[in-house]
Amino acid sequence: MAKPSTIPGSQRVAPQQSSDNLWSRRSFLSFAAWGAFLTVLSGGLLGFLRYLFPRVLFEPSPVFEAGTPEDYLVGEVSEKYKDSNGVWIIREKGGMYALLAVCTHLGCTPRWLASDNKFKCPCHGSGFKRSGINFEGPAPRPLERLKITLSPQGKILIDKSKRFREEKGQWGNPGAYLKLS
Ligand code: FES
Repeated sequence: MAKPSTIPGSQRVAPQQSSDNLWSRRSFLSFAAWGAFLTVLSGGLLGFLRYLFPRVLFEPSPVFEAGTPEDYLVGEVSEKYKDSNGVWIIREKGGMYALLAVCTHLGCTPRWLASDNKFKCPCHGSGFKRSGINFEGPAPRPLERLKITLSPQGKILIDKSKRFREEKGQWGNPGAYLKLS
């Protein structure tokens, strides 16, 4: 225990240690206050930076290039882009169209059965003609067609974000069928 300091010829003064304690407590509180202030400030700054540079999700483009019309044989159902893009490309004498390889019943991936000239869904047995029209099984509507166009360079462009539904009369819309001379 510290002895109280005295001034000769005077009365006792307060012990030095309690003054030190008071200052160290004040210093601590001051540091704590600064710490809290800086924490709030840095949080606000982080929030502001996030506002300035929001997180952006870069999704792959829905448009892909599928060669040229000369790459396809008339009468062919091409499965070249089925695994990579989930699309069949069908070449006819007068043009071509693209079908989305997703069954309209519950979304399974049908198979092209060339010998039967039809698409067959392995899940519940729905069948679709090469045009995409449903004709057997529980599928309630035809397969969907995708936008197909030619680039100025003569390349086939397929846009998976633009779909055409036969039951809505959209197969006659521009882009649902690529006419070729
Ligand atoms: Fe294709 Fe059911 S998901 S028939």
